Amino acid sequence: MDSITNWLEYDVEEMVAGDRDALWHHLKPHKVFKTQEQMIIVEGKGLMVKDIRGREYLDATSGGVWSVMVGFGRDSIAEAVCEQLKKMPYFAGVFGNIPAIKFAKKLLEKLPHHDKVFFSNSGSEANEKAFKIVRQASHVDPSRKGKYKIMYRDRDYHGTTIGAMSATGQAQRRQHFGPFVEGFVEFPHCACYRCPYDKTYGNCNIECARKVEDIILKEGPETIGALIVEPITAGGGILKPVPEYYPVLQEICRRYDIWMIMDEVVCGFGRTGKFWGHQHYDVDPEIITMAKGLASSYGALSATVVKQKIFDIFLNDPTDPKTRLNYFRDISTYGGCTAALTAALESTRIIEDEHLVENSADVGAYLNAQLESLKKYAVVGDIRGLGLFAGIEFVSNRATKEPITENQMAQLMGNVMAEKVIVGRTNTSFDGFNNIMNFAPSLIITREQVDTIVAAVGAAIEKTFG
Ligand SMILES: Cc1ncc(COP(=O)(O)O)c(C=O)c1O
Repeated sequence: MDSITNWLEYDVEEMVAGDRDALWHHLKPHKVFKTQEQMIIVEGKGLMVKDIRGREYLDATSGGVWSVMVGFGRDSIAEAVCEQLKKMPYFAGVFGNIPAIKFAKKLLEKLPHHDKVFFSNSGSEANEKAFKIVRQASHVDPSRKGKYKIMYRDRDYHGTTIGAMSATGQAQRRQHFGPFVEGFVEFPHCACYRCPYDKTYGNCNIECARKVEDIILKEGPETIGALIVEPITAGGGILKPVPEYYPVLQEICRRYDIWMIMDEVVCGFGRTGKFWGHQHYDVDPEIITMAKGLASSYGALSATVVKQKIFDIFLNDPTDPKTRLNYFRDISTYGGCTAALTAALESTRIIEDEHLVENSADVGAYLNAQLESLKKYAVVGDIRGLGLFAGIEFVSNRATKEPITENQMAQLMGNVMAEKVIVGRTNTSFDGFNNIMNFAPSLIITREQVDTIVAAVGAAIEKTFG
């Protein structure tokens, strides 16, 4: 019989030292660990997490980056994954596997205007696949010859790989990683609170969308293949476009045969109170990318979903030497991992059976209404959100909208944490504008838990600003 190691056993001090000595954490300046101990999370149930020292927190971030949609401690996901792993853990995507087929069919049920699903393992990768589809189409489809450029929006984030970062409109995220990939073109953001055209909604002509046409004309429409957007800008500060925005943008894109890529990595799977973020708008993107909530992060999975007309571009004749290489020649080793796909199947079943999208709309409306009560504090400049996704923009002066300082923001975050609640923030994204606190709890959250979060933020504001 095989010997079985119990990987769940550990010695606390050995782990704390091991974290300090062996791990390189994402998005962390490590010098702080010379004087501070890193928090190590060891258990989770529902929205509650426990650290290695036994402290418990209410997590309003769905695991830090908005992805554990169904909450922690779901035995049914663990059991489904365990059974699948015992039967067939992996085979590369050159062959089919049962969870991949079942989950692709489930996704297409949720996206009735789309037809083919390509699996990979992270949001960045799902966007890279989309970019490669656009670029390869610009070589193999005579009607799209030369349409290789991709437009992206200021303040949007699309991932950490060099291609995805080249499509990211966040200066601090990009800093020191250049030079970037050629052929990515930025256009202005659409945040009403800081309108790039100095207009007010109601008295504007949706310039944020209409002026994109000027940039297209300047670049040359014959060179532009696609435009990528987040339905609601997430890491860039919870920026919700006005209802007319996407229909206007789509009309411009269609006029010049520019595909719209909708990055649903954060908004998909119920985050905003509908299954997809773009469903709040009258828009039908050609390509949709997704990750995070796909498997509720019980496995690493992402997908790039396209319409039939795009898939058909790559249907080449393999015997014709001229078109032999025209099929989509992309590879994803771990796209063939059945564990993540099975986790996605079970997580999506839970979202449906427990009506979690409806809960996101309902308790999300309550969250946004309760956050409004914080407007009594002068430092609260703007509150915006949709479903279980919300942000507070902190300012030192409401009239000038001057952001609070990085130090004040750091203190405020520490004071929320001291209340045993974990919230998020715009973090090393923009010069001077890392002043937005965000909330994206698991979709199972209750009204009582919302009250705890809002009370913690209120207490932290008082402690920080007096
Ligand atoms: C909108 C959006 N797209 C893409 C990504 C990249 O996803 P990943 O970190 O899984 O590569 C993120 C990550 O936060 C994101 O917020």
